[in-house]
Amino acid sequence: MTGQLDGKIALVTGASRGIGKAIAEIFAAQGATVVLSYRSGTDEAAAVVSGIEAHGGKAIAIAADVANEQQIVALYEAVDAIGPLDILVNNAGVILEKPLLDTTADDFDWLMNVNLRGQFLVGREALRRMVGRDGTRVINISSDLSFTGREDFSAYCASKGAINALTKSWAREFAPHVLVNAIAPGPIDTDMLDLENMSAEWAEKEKELTVLKRIGTVDEISAVALFLAGPGSTYLSGQIIGPNGGSVMP
Ligand SMILES: NC(=O)c1ccc[n+]([C@@H]2O[C@H](COP(=O)([O-])OP(=O)(O)OC[C@H]3O[C@@H](n4cnc5c(N)ncnc54)[C@H](O)[C@@H]3O)[C@@H](O)[C@H]2O)c1
Repeated sequence: MTGQLDGKIALVTGASRGIGKAIAEIFAAQGATVVLSYRSGTDEAAAVVSGIEAHGGKAIAIAADVANEQQIVALYEAVDAIGPLDILVNNAGVILEKPLLDTTADDFDWLMNVNLRGQFLVGREALRRMVGRDGTRVINISSDLSFTGREDFSAYCASKGAINALTKSWAREFAPHVLVNAIAPGPIDTDMLDLENMSAEWAEKEKELTVLKRIGTVDEISAVALFLAGPGSTYLSGQIIGPNGGSVMP
């Protein structure tokens, strides 16, 4: 059976769990060799690789903090040893629920370092390798909150708004060879939405803000990532695609 991504090499950051894991799995199932990067979940990442291999797919896992430039350079040395990178999914991210007046400068810097500096560093190194190469794709993971803003989540919303701006700028700078788009999910059932990160009140409100009145699944995001990575999306660049249950209607 032929896959939509046969022969492609893909890097998915933050792929030890959640949305990144689902994207790594669907890319591998469609024939890509997938490099999964993660920060600290070594056992989780190894389990994702084993699961992919058990289904006949190809994957390796490499630890790298997206906010750490040296670790990202080392990550790309490992990617280069496999072959030329075709697809990047800039997925790793963190969230912070905190009223602005309680948010410290350290809180703000931590969140921006992972969400924004991380996508800048990982994206820049990918684009260095993709420049001028047809068929290459960058997919940045944003959020529906980048459009709406949200009380108690302003640092997170700002980081994702900046990611939309990076996406549009890169789409212009690297056209027509590299297609650069973002996915801005609505609320998705992952550890990010669990009660360690978000109050029960907010999780319920997130659901109510969708017109479908439900939280989405990781498979509903990975399907969009596959579309953006695959052969059917050749006239899309600089777009912020919203699998969000109708929480935002631009
Ligand atoms: N779950 C949602 O409702 C939702 C909605 C909109 C956008 N998103 C975005 O989707 C992406 C994935 O989120 P998720 O829900 O799967 O979250 P998650 O917490 O389940 O997974 C996040 C992943 O990012 C990794 N990560 C965190 N900090 C890192 C760092 N410094 N370096 C490298 N990796 C790091 C984690 O190890 C993990 O693998 C994030 O960018 C998030 O902002 C999620």
